[in-house]
Amino acid sequence: MTPEQITLVQASFQKVMPIAGTAADLFYDRLFETAPQTRALFPQDMAEQKKKLMVMLATAVTNLHKFDTILPAVQALGQRHKGYGVTADQYAPVGAALLWTLEKGLGPDFTPETKAAWTEAYTTLAGAMTNA
Ligand code: HEM
Repeated sequence: MTPEQITLVQASFQKVMPIAGTAADLFYDRLFETAPQTRALFPQDMAEQKKKLMVMLATAVTNLHKFDTILPAVQALGQRHKGYGVTADQYAPVGAALLWTLEKGLGPDFTPETKAAWTEAYTTLAGAMTNA
């Protein structure tokens, strides 16, 4: 990722944070609609999961400029996901649901450059998780 892309991701995430709860609702509704087979992997009650996802995303986004320092934590997260029964092909619908959520949450602020930067950020994270 370029430094400009990292700044774009961080600045746009700041705008999503105030509506984190809504964003998490939108994200999982969209995921379960577009990839229903993923629903069974998650617990019935999604409240805790929604919080964990936003905290992890915040940590990753904040530390994108020093990705090397969070790489071991991201790799460990990837290994835990294997244990949850997550397969490599499920990372694509999750990425698509994330981009869709950002588009809904950011509206006109979700510019093509911002979308490209997020695509790069998710690809980096998902790549590190699946290679772990
Ligand atoms: C960049 C990508 C992702 C991030 C940042 C992320 C983040 C997280 C976090 C923080 C947790 C909490 C548990 C833990 O820390 O181990 C978690 C759990 C989980 N994630 Fe992900 N995740 C990602 C991708 C995916 C994908 C692609 C799937 C596939 C559907 C998935 C399904 C799950 C499931 C099933 C759980 C466990 C739920 C439970 O039993 O409590 N995640 N994820």
